[in-house]
Amino acid sequence: MNAPLPQTDLEAAGELARLAAEIAHHNRLYHTDDTPEISDADYDALVRRNGAIEEAFPHLVRDDSPSRMVGAAPAAHLGKVRHAQAMLSLENAFDDTDVIEFILRVRRFLALGADDRVAVTAEPKIDGLSCSLRYEKGRLVLAATRGDGQTGEDVTANVRTIADIPQQLPEGVPDVFEIRGEVYMAKGDFAALNARLLAEAADPAKARQFANPRNAAAGSLRQKDPAVTASRPLRFWAHGWGEVSALPADTQFGVMKAIESWGVPLSEMLIHCEQIEGALAHYRRIEAKRAELPYDIDGVVYKVDRLDWQERLGFVAKAPRWAIAHKFPAEKAQTTLKAIDIQVGRTGKLTPVARLDPVTVGGVVVTNATLHNADEIERLGARPGDRVVVQRAGDVIPQIVEVLTREEDRPAFVFPSECPDCGSDAVREEGEVDIRCTGGLICPAQRVERLRHFVSRQALDIEGLGETSIASFFNDKLIESPADIFRLRDRRDELIGRERWAETSVDNLIAAIDAKRESPLDRFLFALGIRHVGQVTARDLARRYATIEAFRAMIAAALTRRAEMVQAIGETEDKFRQRMGKEVAALIETPGVGPEVAMALTDFFAEAHNQAVVADLLAQMAIQPVIHETRASEVSGKTVVFTGSLETMSRDEAKAQAEKLGAKVSGSVSAKTDLVVAGPGAGSKLKKAADLGIKVIDEAGWASIVANAE
Ligand code: IVH
Repeated sequence: MNAPLPQTDLEAAGELARLAAEIAHHNRLYHTDDTPEISDADYDALVRRNGAIEEAFPHLVRDDSPSRMVGAAPAAHLGKVRHAQAMLSLENAFDDTDVIEFILRVRRFLALGADDRVAVTAEPKIDGLSCSLRYEKGRLVLAATRGDGQTGEDVTANVRTIADIPQQLPEGVPDVFEIRGEVYMAKGDFAALNARLLAEAADPAKARQFANPRNAAAGSLRQKDPAVTASRPLRFWAHGWGEVSALPADTQFGVMKAIESWGVPLSEMLIHCEQIEGALAHYRRIEAKRAELPYDIDGVVYKVDRLDWQERLGFVAKAPRWAIAHKFPAEKAQTTLKAIDIQVGRTGKLTPVARLDPVTVGGVVVTNATLHNADEIERLGARPGDRVVVQRAGDVIPQIVEVLTREEDRPAFVFPSECPDCGSDAVREEGEVDIRCTGGLICPAQRVERLRHFVSRQALDIEGLGETSIASFFNDKLIESPADIFRLRDRRDELIGRERWAETSVDNLIAAIDAKRESPLDRFLFALGIRHVGQVTARDLARRYATIEAFRAMIAAALTRRAEMVQAIGETEDKFRQRMGKEVAALIETPGVGPEVAMALTDFFAEAHNQAVVADLLAQMAIQPVIHETRASEVSGKTVVFTGSLETMSRDEAKAQAEKLGAKVSGSVSAKTDLVVAGPGAGSKLKKAADLGIKVIDEAGWASIVANAE
């Protein structure tokens, strides 16, 4: 997508909001449901666009920005495992320049000298499912999927059936060692599995078929019954580690080779390079061999080799600063765009979806692609009946990249001016890219989407209540508002005997719903579907307020403050909302909650209908408090200012350390500052700190605070 960047804050904020929702949707399809509907290339394009806009408008980065999120929540039928160390994701590079920039960032962050070389490892990025294998005293005790990065699924029993994974490591390995890597399926095994599933199916038309090897691996690993996993040809490669009691080497390459010597497979294409140029050459070699490889790969991963540097580089919100995935370009094919359908989302957004004549792109049959919005259709000039170029990357379905010449004249696609579901006006607000249905609560499609959101994996995560069931229960008025879900137990008899529902499945559903009467505050807040309150903001709010009572007391105070301000109104509505947003945000006192979120939150709770929905829910539920874990130190919760030059680390590294310890870093000294860390050459800030009587320490003092943190 090479569309020009937005020009104004309003345009940028609108597009970032759209991208956050869209990327979250695709994350859910990909990670939780194993049913992706767009290609990796398409997905990457969305993420890149998001990144480009965030770079140009850094003050507009959202709390629920995709750049701060990883993956999706775990499936409910498997036990949950909280990772001892988060399982993160990787930043992407799409060309050599991105890779060189990565190395330059590393050099800057570490404040390296001109002669220091950044050695790296390079290995293929395999298209599988990441998995963490925990060995204690050499024995495999736990295996978990990535899940949302913090909490994954317990797949120990299933993993024990994978021949590549040893149950026991040799004598002398560290007491605790978590090997991380990828569970995958070879291309040939994938084709044979699909053929077998087809042959075994009673009705071939309904046979389960996997779209690609990654989905087959994910579906096979996340089985309830390990016997099913055992019958699937899964393989494993290590590419890193999590919690360890000791490390067998001080470089990435050294530790990987030790893991290999313990009998765990690595990629045979893992190499060590003194400089990035060698890694780029390796990329080209692998790219040339890609089609012949017996498994799917979608790029090459580079990792800074020195572990002491990895440690200092640390992580940004979702990925390590010391690694990057250099992606391969996408594969392309031509097909016919049969039709453009419109789907209505939770917030009324109308999304055009392209229906395609089935076409094979890089071995996968593709039938749909999202067209994002009206602008995208116009930019492409796409009309039903056109021949189009579709592309997909290492994985799944596609993106339309180009419309080919049109032989006969076809009418242009006209974006509907009414909601296809409820018939309300569909409007595009000024500065927004999206066209929305204005039907709000009268629009059945929006109401169904909200209910789906409420029970979705990232929200209340109610197993057995899928998208289809929600729609059919809604149509039959069994569920009209979220609290009705908890009242389904009173309608057990009506449920039994519905198509696809028998006594056991109904009882299982009721049990799954009952289990969620106790849900943590962050999930509850996210489930409400408040505009601008994504998972990250919901978590921030839940950490700040801990209990639903404290949260509601804050909301009550915020609503009072709004009401008082309204009394004094004397300016235009826009300006007034901005001022009010600032005041309300100050009152909410939660990092990451700015005026926009503050207004969205109070807008939501100012609506009597929403208050009623929440009260109704609280009569059914017991919301669990959320406890915030931080690395305790003497600067936790304090405001720190760094000034002067730092000699052993860059400013970014210092800031990252402070944030890890729960401190806030500010650029200027004020009465709110608790501590100033001053290096040589510190000037006016140091003087101001002295005037205000603020504690000042040097870089060595700072290092000892970091060393003494828990
Ligand atoms: S390193 C801290 N190396 O790609 C994250 N990941 O997009 C370390 N993957 O979650 C990951 N091949 O599941 C790494 N050679 C490789 C990989 C690889 C595939 C997966 C992994 C990761 C995802 C990130």
